Amino acid sequence: MAYHEQYFSHADGSYVPASIAQTTKEIPLSTALLDGVTKVIKLLVLIVPVLLRDFVQLLLPAQKKSIKGQVALVTGGGNGLGRALCLRLAQEGCAVAVADIDLPSAQNTAKEVRNRYGVNAEGFRVDVADHQSVAELRKRIESALGPVDILVNNAGLLAMLSLSEGSVQDVQRIINVNLLSHFWTIREFKDGMVERRRGHIVAISSILGILPNGRSICYNTTKFGVRGLMASLNDELYSDGLAEHIHTTCVYPAGIKTRKDFVDFVKDLKLTIPWHSPEYVAEATVTGMLTNKTDLIASSTIVKFLCYCYPLFPKSFVRLATDVMVGKCPPLTRRSSLK
Ligand SMILES: NC(=O)c1ccc[n+]([C@@H]2O[C@H](COP(=O)([O-])OP(=O)(O)OC[C@H]3O[C@@H](n4cnc5c(N)ncnc54)[C@H](O)[C@@H]3O)[C@@H](O)[C@H]2O)c1
Repeated sequence: MAYHEQYFSHADGSYVPASIAQTTKEIPLSTALLDGVTKVIKLLVLIVPVLLRDFVQLLLPAQKKSIKGQVALVTGGGNGLGRALCLRLAQEGCAVAVADIDLPSAQNTAKEVRNRYGVNAEGFRVDVADHQSVAELRKRIESALGPVDILVNNAGLLAMLSLSEGSVQDVQRIINVNLLSHFWTIREFKDGMVERRRGHIVAISSILGILPNGRSICYNTTKFGVRGLMASLNDELYSDGLAEHIHTTCVYPAGIKTRKDFVDFVKDLKLTIPWHSPEYVAEATVTGMLTNKTDLIASSTIVKFLCYCYPLFPKSFVRLATDVMVGKCPPLTRRSSLK
């Protein structure tokens, strides 16, 4: 039985604990030392050209790749950031598959894309949380526009629930739409990219995928999850020798003025968060993608600084800095969110 098949069968009593001898073999000290020193020397030799290349790349202006004529799929493309991304990708000459659970909005975006940029665009209905719906979407896009070269996982629910808010179904839905959906779309579209040795997978996370927030635990968890998924996917592509052909970009926006209800909700909390237009975030995303950036914070320099420094500062400092600069989240009983 393969390892991953055994993994699912613990309940039937087939669990076999590892023996100590299996994990700790006695290695003589001299052998261990020699092995360690050899590895350090090998690393020092190999790291020199890598550091030199990275240093030269830092000095040179980033080269933008062309995506003209490629097919881009944007989930949640009917409204908000997704709509702005569809238009920005069309401006680069892409054909655009606008996929959304809200079909009329997806069709409106597709029409706007065609009218403004004269490229091919179609609206499709999909529930990204449903694997079958995503599988059918691939077939429909391939027959209408051709295979997908650029996958933008943007669809998400801006549900700001603490751990104690919302129903069991709300929690499941947020995780399914914001995180699990990325597995379904990547599994469905990556194989074609591998076959054609060409592709780019983009995910919209959030600065709440870097900075914790106890008042939106479920959302934060999904956005941290997206960040982990994208970093791991990037590593898998590297391990498979595909890093030069298929690229990944994970985007961390701050506030985006998309839905009125969401902006009003945050305003009621009296928090000072940096707001940007969907066009600003779409511009940062596509520019980052064209230069094959793996991670990008789509916000101001101060937000970038806070995100980069967050893991370096002691918790007490970060808490104080957040309270002073962003404001203190009101108690749950005073929030206007779901209960
Ligand atoms: N608005 C912000 O302040 C903000 C900040 C950081 C990150 N983000 C992220 O940016 C992305 C887009 O957010 P937005 O503000 O444009 O949201 P939005 O609500 O304006 O648009 C989301 C779109 O996704 C669609 N959608 C929802 N569930 C879907 C499903 N199951 N299947 C397919 N489509 C579905 C909706 O119909 C809608 O058209 C999200 O992932 C969000 O988490 C937003």
